[in-house]
Amino acid sequence: MRGKHVIANWKMHGGLETNAALLHDVLAGVTGLPEAVGVAVCVPFPYLTQAQALLRGSRVALGAQNLSEHPQGAFTGEVAASMLNDFACRYVLVGHSERRGLYGETNALVAKKFAAALAKNLSPILCVGETLEERDAGRTLDVVSAQIDAVLDHVGIAGFSGALVAYEPVWAIGTGRTATSAQAQEVHASIRARLACADAGVAEKLEILYGGSVKPSNASELFSMKDIDGGLIGGASLHAADFLAICRAAA
Ligand code: PGA
Repeated sequence: MRGKHVIANWKMHGGLETNAALLHDVLAGVTGLPEAVGVAVCVPFPYLTQAQALLRGSRVALGAQNLSEHPQGAFTGEVAASMLNDFACRYVLVGHSERRGLYGETNALVAKKFAAALAKNLSPILCVGETLEERDAGRTLDVVSAQIDAVLDHVGIAGFSGALVAYEPVWAIGTGRTATSAQAQEVHASIRARLACADAGVAEKLEILYGGSVKPSNASELFSMKDIDGGLIGGASLHAADFLAICRAAA
């Protein structure tokens, strides 16, 4: 049986005071949650120290939202995987659609970042997803397959045994428009099938999260689908009650 994860992606929101209040409420709320649901928060780099201190000894794991593809060197403004290790990060998002769309991250670069995370024992959360234009053109599965294949070709199927995948249709992120559970399930199943061609065991164990306007009102239906193993939560993760309701929906 695969596990389930609900992972918060705070994006560029928050500050010391709001983070402390939010984590306080999340920590209070996760106590009753079944252990089978893994919970993590991906915070902006400057708040890793704060979050590490507040989450220490709890069941909520820490993650970052990006990393450099390089292990070290003259890369002003970049953050290496080893630096994330220093703050006990377990997860790091790679290839979020905002990184791909706004900062020009290509499939090839995302694959390098995925490898950089694995090299330092971080679990990369590989984000994939199509734009509305691509969906309307009937290219969803081609686009997502290409995003998966770039990583598969670079690290091999074994790399996926230490990773998670998040399917996030770009048109559903922060828009209030969610993929239907059937639309999401179709893509999740195709990702699993593609990886199963390389190794059925790894594909079966891989957690594939859904992201894109997940809310307490739609989480249960999405998470009830066979190949949807939890969620990557943006907007709703900034409200403890909503985030906790979504965590409960995964239980
Ligand atoms: P959203 O963001 O839940 O606000 O749509 C999800 C994400 O970008 O990871």
